[in-house]
Amino acid sequence: RADKMNLVIQKIRSFPDFPSKGILFRDVCPILKDPKALTAVIDLFEEHVRQTYTQVDLIVGIDARGFLFGPLLAQRLGIGLALIRKKGKLPGPTVSVAYSLEYGKAEAEMQVDAVEPGQKVLLIDDLLATGGTLYAACELLRKRQAEVLGCLVLVQLTDLDGAQRLKPVSVFSLTEY
Ligand code: PRP
Ligand code: HPA
Repeated sequence: RADKMNLVIQKIRSFPDFPSKGILFRDVCPILKDPKALTAVIDLFEEHVRQTYTQVDLIVGIDARGFLFGPLLAQRLGIGLALIRKKGKLPGPTVSVAYSLEYGKAEAEMQVDAVEPGQKVLLIDDLLATGGTLYAACELLRKRQAEVLGCLVLVQLTDLDGAQRLKPVSVFSLTEY
């Protein structure tokens, strides 16, 4: 388990002043270039989910980097995936909500039939900063009467108190900075 964790941590790079001055950007792209590291990410998430929850009905991936890991985890768990996207990308009836994030503003959207009322869901994204994005995602799921069991991220930026913002929804992260 420690080996897998190290493999993942080694592959996260940091870029100062991206996308704007004062932001230290944590980049997970090198994980995708290394099949062992990517497998380790999914192994660690799978292990956490199996140990923590008796039933999960659906994984919800967050645009855009939640889409890289969400489908792999959903397949491992033998369950489906729903998408929460930046506004204007999804056809048919949708629900949407505006939010702010560490370096800007956006609007999140989900198809109304992406999730059934009462379904138990886990959200997944690459990184938790202020929690604005995952909080908005939780709001969309509440609008559709889904039950949010928790959030999974590769990286949590602890200074920005995102986990506090998401309470009582829990956050599981593989690494923290
Ligand atoms: C980044 C990141 C998270 C979010 C975290 O995505 O992938 O989704 O910001 O910030 P927060 O906790 O302060 O909300 P971004 O919105 O930049 O979009 P992208 O994945 O499309 O690049
Ligand atoms: N890296 C990737 N995405 C982010 C970051 C970061 O440091 N901060 C907010 N979203």
